[in-house]
Amino acid sequence: MKYNNQIFLDEFKNKMLEINPQKVLFVCSKDYDRYGYRKALDEINIKSVSFTSFEPCPEVSSVENGIEAYKSNECDFVVAVGGGSAIDTAKGIKYYSKLDFDILAVPTTAGTGAEVTRFSVLYRNKDKESVSDYSIIPNFQIFDYTTLKSLPYEQKVVTSLDAFCHSVEAFWSVDATNESRKYSKKALSLFNDNFARYIENDDSTFEPMLECSMLAGKAINLARTTAPHAFSYKLHKLKGFHHGRAVAVSLAYIWKFMEESNKLNELMKETREITGFDADGFINFLSKLGLFDDLTMTKAQFDETIHGVNIQRLQNFPLKLTEEDIKNIYCSFIDVK
Ligand SMILES: [Fe+2]
Repeated sequence: MKYNNQIFLDEFKNKMLEINPQKVLFVCSKDYDRYGYRKALDEINIKSVSFTSFEPCPEVSSVENGIEAYKSNECDFVVAVGGGSAIDTAKGIKYYSKLDFDILAVPTTAGTGAEVTRFSVLYRNKDKESVSDYSIIPNFQIFDYTTLKSLPYEQKVVTSLDAFCHSVEAFWSVDATNESRKYSKKALSLFNDNFARYIENDDSTFEPMLECSMLAGKAINLARTTAPHAFSYKLHKLKGFHHGRAVAVSLAYIWKFMEESNKLNELMKETREITGFDADGFINFLSKLGLFDDLTMTKAQFDETIHGVNIQRLQNFPLKLTEEDIKNIYCSFIDVK
């Protein structure tokens, strides 16, 4: 498939000529070679070596292989082309190697905002182990929104819901600032204006949805994610749900719990204003997308899930959640068989 992304390839080539690295570690899954970024490096005679062996949920062991590839090939720069996994792998290579190099990121999904955040979401034997450091924020970005054209419908839905959740969670966070709230509001406005047409692959939505994802990333970079992300990881691990789906279904029922607490009325009112939903409206919206299908668990899975929420990670959540609250929230959307 030929992409008409020459304008972005030219922007990339100009940037790389300006940086002029000796050798680039090109972190990109094999699928995404088709966008032409590696070839573009060849065209401007910048040496590169590909690093493709990382998982969709990158393992720390793969990051260690990436560090080995970076060092043994004497690289001095990293380009990451892909969704969160490629960009987080590149950031993990920088974090764990403690080497000082710059990263250029080309996001190919509109969801994680990884191209502008200090987080790298990694896994150790399938359990989440994310790291955070301002030094790993990619130094350069190319927003090639044409890559969104070939993203399948399901991927468009779940990745953009991740961006929606980043915006809302950053807005709820007790660490929210005026700046992070500005990013959240703008991201949600772009989401609301474009989501329905975006999932139908309307070309005119690609640029604003990539901007939505980037702004939502900037919001969590300041305020961090909160309870819905903490709730999501076991759903992702045990049910195999995509990260964005696991977060969205968690957020829906945490939202309902927040409304019913009657302790956050002003925040809930603002949330309705910026999202266009109340909790029931959001639950309905996700139901129509089929995201509540297959929410059954065995008793053993359920026990692992409710004990898998790290209470420490809930410190920026505006309500104090007890273990009983956590169990009740999960019970409101998971059917234990
Ligand atoms: Fe996320």
